Amino acid sequence: MRTIDLRKYPQPRIRHHANPQVYIPLRQLRIVPPNYPPLIEKIDWQTVFANGRPPTVLDIGSGMGHFVIEYALAHPGENILGVDVRKPAVEWIANVLCGEHIGNAAVLWYSVANGLPFIESESLSTITYFFPDPWFKKRHVKRRAFTPALIKEIYRMLCTEGTLYLMTDVPDVDAYQRQLLSEHGGFDIIDVISEQQWFTEHTDQELFCVAKGIPYVRLRCPKRPSHV
Ligand SMILES: C[S@@+](CC[C@H](N)C(=O)[O-])C[C@H]1O[C@@H](n2cnc3c(N)ncnc32)[C@H](O)[C@@H]1O
Repeated sequence: MRTIDLRKYPQPRIRHHANPQVYIPLRQLRIVPPNYPPLIEKIDWQTVFANGRPPTVLDIGSGMGHFVIEYALAHPGENILGVDVRKPAVEWIANVLCGEHIGNAAVLWYSVANGLPFIESESLSTITYFFPDPWFKKRHVKRRAFTPALIKEIYRMLCTEGTLYLMTDVPDVDAYQRQLLSEHGGFDIIDVISEQQWFTEHTDQELFCVAKGIPYVRLRCPKRPSHV
């Protein structure tokens, strides 16, 4: 597989978090903050991916994009879309994708707090949500992107055989996500212990955890065929 020397693309200093308002749905804010990611209702995929087709893989909270870039290189026949609220991170990845002529990956500056209406129903085989911001404090939990509304969106976007993949190093986030998924009822929740059931591509945060010996949990959540 082709490898990329990312040193060609110096990373700007990127803060851990964006403005706290970007994690809240826009309709709940009285004043639109100037740096709120634009809402997207519809996308012409011809303008996004080289083959003009919609994505089949969605990486929510793509961060610095290691997973998106590696996945695109390893799966040239698939289109992967990353979304993230941190504009400088999205711009940096977009610059790498452009510089390396990677036409089957794209990233959008967007807050999933607003749903993902621009992604067609039952169009995705894979949705990943890796190492979400934990927002430990009780008063900050409302900033977590993984909500009943997002789970409903994930269920809508996944095709019949589709799977949601989760990874976190925060036990409280793991318990919270399992609880919300159980309450939704539309997914099996399977702990992944074998590498064969997982991706060969890695995220930036995953590589950090491996380097520091920090344990983390991986879940594979296939969509259940029928759900009311
Ligand atoms: C801890 S980072 C993990 C990044 C990457 N997935 C990884 O594993 O390296 C979490 C990412 O989720 C993004 N994020 C948080 N809330 C979001 C939201 N509402 N919409 C889109 N991205 C969000 C953050 O900006 C951040 O880049």
